[in-house]
Amino acid sequence: MDSSNEKIDEFITCSAVAHSSTANLGPGFDVFGLGLDAFEDVVTITKTNKMKSSIPRINLTCSGDGTEMIPSELNENTAGLVVIKMLHDFNLNKNANWDLDLHIVKKIPIGYGLGSSAASAAATALAVDGLFNLQLPKRLLIRYAAEGEIASAGTRHYDNVSGSMLGGFVIVTSTPEFDFIGLEVPESLHLAIAVPVMDVPIKKTAVARGVLPKLVPLESVICNTANASTVVAGFALKNTKMIAKGINDLIVEPSRKHLIPGYELVKRNAIKEGALAVTISGAGPSMISVLEDKKTAIQVANSMAQAFLESGVVDTKTIICRPSGGAKIVHVSK
Ligand code: HSE
Repeated sequence: MDSSNEKIDEFITCSAVAHSSTANLGPGFDVFGLGLDAFEDVVTITKTNKMKSSIPRINLTCSGDGTEMIPSELNENTAGLVVIKMLHDFNLNKNANWDLDLHIVKKIPIGYGLGSSAASAAATALAVDGLFNLQLPKRLLIRYAAEGEIASAGTRHYDNVSGSMLGGFVIVTSTPEFDFIGLEVPESLHLAIAVPVMDVPIKKTAVARGVLPKLVPLESVICNTANASTVVAGFALKNTKMIAKGINDLIVEPSRKHLIPGYELVKRNAIKEGALAVTISGAGPSMISVLEDKKTAIQVANSMAQAFLESGVVDTKTIICRPSGGAKIVHVSK
């Protein structure tokens, strides 16, 4: 055995947690993100010193439900891509006298449109920052977290990672460069989510982006702009009814709805039970309703599950939640 690779008994560990999220909120495709306190992922990175400097080895492990769906190759894994990019950009991996162990505890269901990959990416970016004491602002860490989305969506998108990183409602601006505007959320904002348990493609978000139109009619753009403005005004005024009024998408949702069994019925049932608005959560297939109280949320979630059942989905998970806070470091040890 090469003695240069022998570990010496000295290590530091940093753990970070990031919540689930929903993206788009109807008309805000790739622009709106909302952190959700439904689930959270925990990422722990351990840096172990070794005798001699060399290119660091990075060992990736996962635990939790559905981890067999997570690529173990570093450059195909959400968290792995974030680590690779950060080590490279901050020149950390040249002549390193350490190796890294990266462990993800997955609690967010994978592949259902609840920002599972984004939460792992956001927690990883924060844990790398904490481990190497980089002290980067969260808005820069969001950009690194977005690297991780390439693994599942085939491209960077910032809506889920910004919701997960900052918590609450976030608008992703892209001119002249990416930036993030966070707004507080109304106390009354509750969400009811129905997650249809069904087979989804491994790169589900990439598939759901593949069905989108390249060109859209001007009328649809005008309506979506009006609706997105209404959503933003609703958050600015902390008015849940106004937020819901704007949740209507004429561009992305119509081209994706065939991917969700029972889409129309789910919407109809939810509205009948008191939902103020219903939309696809991110790239789906989960559907999310906006409401003002927990009791109605429970009824609406059950009515959405019933609609999925009548549409051939035998198992649907229902979740009642509220907007979450942002990602945070929960443990650092020497
Ligand atoms: N804006 C992204 C999409 C979110 O809809 O493809 C994916 O969660």
